[in-house]
Order: sequence, then C-alpha cells, then structure tokens
Amino acid sequence: MAKRPQRIWHLAGAVILVIGLLCFRQPIADGVRRVCGGGNVAHSEYTLTGNEAAPPAFYTLNNGAKIPTVALGVWQASPGEVGAAVKDALAAGYKHIDGAWIYRNEAEVGEALQESGVDRSSIWITSKLWNTFHAPEDIEEALDDTLSKLQTEYLDLYLMHWPIAFEKGTTNVDWDLTEDPLPTWRKLEEMVKKGKVKNIGVSNFNIRRIKNLTANALEIKPVINQVELNFFNPQPELVAWAKENDILLEAYSPLGSTNQVGRSLGQKDVKAVAEALGVTPAQVIISWHVQRGTVVLPKSVHKNRIEENLDIITLPQAAFDAIEEAATSHTPERVINPSKAWKLGFDLFDD
Ligand code: A2P
Repeated sequence: MAKRPQRIWHLAGAVILVIGLLCFRQPIADGVRRVCGGGNVAHSEYTLTGNEAAPPAFYTLNNGAKIPTVALGVWQASPGEVGAAVKDALAAGYKHIDGAWIYRNEAEVGEALQESGVDRSSIWITSKLWNTFHAPEDIEEALDDTLSKLQTEYLDLYLMHWPIAFEKGTTNVDWDLTEDPLPTWRKLEEMVKKGKVKNIGVSNFNIRRIKNLTANALEIKPVINQVELNFFNPQPELVAWAKENDILLEAYSPLGSTNQVGRSLGQKDVKAVAEALGVTPAQVIISWHVQRGTVVLPKSVHKNRIEENLDIITLPQAAFDAIEEAATSHTPERVINPSKAWKLGFDLFDD
C-alpha cells in the first residue's frame, strides 16, 4: 500500500521525459517545425508548393507609370563603396536606385551608372529635394545639381525629402513653406513639364500633411510617399490609407537600418519562417514588404547581400500573416526621427 504514491511519481516522471524528448526533436521532416513551450505551433503551412506566383516586378502608379518593386537604397553607403554597390546591383538585375542630394554620394552613383554602361531608359532613378531648397526659386538649381552629379538628363522620381522646409543655408525652420508646401509643389510640377523629372512625390509625410497638400487643386497628384516601414514601425494605418488614396508607399530602412538590422533579422517569427522556407531572414522581411504592396529600398554595400535582397519570394499566406501579426502587435518604435535634432518642438510624424 505504501508503495503506490511512489509508483505514481515514477509514471509521471516518465511521461514528462517523453514529452521533453519529443519537444526537443526539432526541426523535423520536410520543413515542418514544432515549437514547444510557446504553445504547439506547427509551421507545416509555411511550406512552399512551387505554385506561388512570382512577386511583382513593378507596381503601377496613380498616373500609369510602372515603378520597379525593389531598389538599392544608397543612404549610408559611404564614398568609396557606393559606386561598387550600384554596379553590383545593376549587374544583379536591379532596375531601381534610390538616392538623395543629402546623401552626398550622387557623383559616385553617377560615375557608377556611366561605367556600368546600363541603358538609362531601362532603369528608375529617384532623388530627393533637400529641406534648404524648398523655396521655389531654389528648386531648379538644386535639381540641376543632382542631375549633373548623376550624369542624367532626367529623374524618374523626385521627392520632397521631408515636409519640413529650412530657411536657405540654415537649419532654421521656414514655417510658412512647411505649413503650406504648395509653392514648392507648384515648382516641382513645373519641373515635370520641363521634362527634368518624370514623376513627383513626397517623403516622410503623415496623413495630415498629405491631405494639407492634396486639398489644393494640384495639376499633378503625388504618386509616392516614401516613409520608414520595418518590423519595428510597420504603420498599418498608413499602409491602408495610402492604398485607399492611391498613393504608393516606399519602405525606407526596411530591415531596420544599420542600428536595428540585427534585431530585426533575429526576430523569432522571422527566423521561423526563414528556416521553414529555406530562405534568409532578410529575404523574408523584403518579401513581406512587397506582399504588403510597398516598394522596398534595402541598403547594402555587399555584393552577396545585394543579390540576396533581390531574390525574394511570395510568402505562403500563413507565413505572411505571422510576420504581419508579429510586426503589428507590439508598441511601434520609430527608428528614424530627426524632430529633436531639428529642434522642431513637436514630433513631425504626429503633428
Ligand atoms: P551592409 O551595407 O554592410 O550590407 P536598411 O535597408 O533597413 O537601411 O538596412 C541596412 C543595413 O542592413 C545595413 O547595415 C546593411 O549592411 C544591412 N544589410 C543589408 N542587407 C542585408 C542582408 N541581406 N543581411 C544582413 N544585413 C543586411
């Protein structure tokens, strides 16, 4: 009689041991992974069937123009390495380079475009108007400087880099041109008519600021809003609003930028999808951006990563949903925000 409780404990111990062994036998066959501890999550639905449609190579803008889905971003690509990165990207099949006057590397990008011998009409080049040049009388000169550095007759896309205008040659805010960007926009429209720019858009505009601009009778509606979009700051409301209003979003810092890329590629859901599908975490994130319907601008100066970042897939719906859910279910963290550095006294993304 006294032995009975002891036998029950032996039995319970054996059951726990078997469960433990099963849990740690992962990954198991054919890409199916089971995770113990956080609930039994089977990722069998993450397998690729081979029947998935290829990711779109282009999106169509609200004016009918077609913009290549993935670009090489050259922000933070240093002098001495940006040119090689552009050449590697073009050789790998990129059709889209995203730059800006303020990145201070346009001359090297222009050299690389020349040396690559690529047909100008086969690629899409974007640049951005810096904050000090929002006054209408300064815009054409700034644009000409960009065109001459890039050694091209025209840009495919020219964006107002920020919704904040600075007084000429300073970092003091020009409040009139900041709150009413119409004079700046009118001049950009003129640049389209002159043929120096094919498409115009904005960058870092929140919904209030876009509405403030588009409330005017514009001759040309912005085609693009380039904003920070990544795992930490996925902005689902802005994504939905932009779709409803036919303004395409472009995702800058799509991997979380230099300081957060490690954290973003190390997310457990991102890693789980990558392992199950046999792709890299960066490819999962870039594929997710494309499936959200945004242009993606990953920056790299390494040939292998440049190639990797273009080689994306269509995620199975369950895998896409898992990344979307993981990205949108935590408190958003913006990676890039110059509001304090510019001493605005408010958060330019909120106000
Ligand atoms: P590097 O240029 O040395 O390759 P984002 O595109 O969000 O701005 O992130 C850029 C950062 O991510 C850079 O530090 C870049 O480093 C790094 N990066 C780009 N592609 C990859 C990749 N496929 N795997 C790992 N890191 C990457």
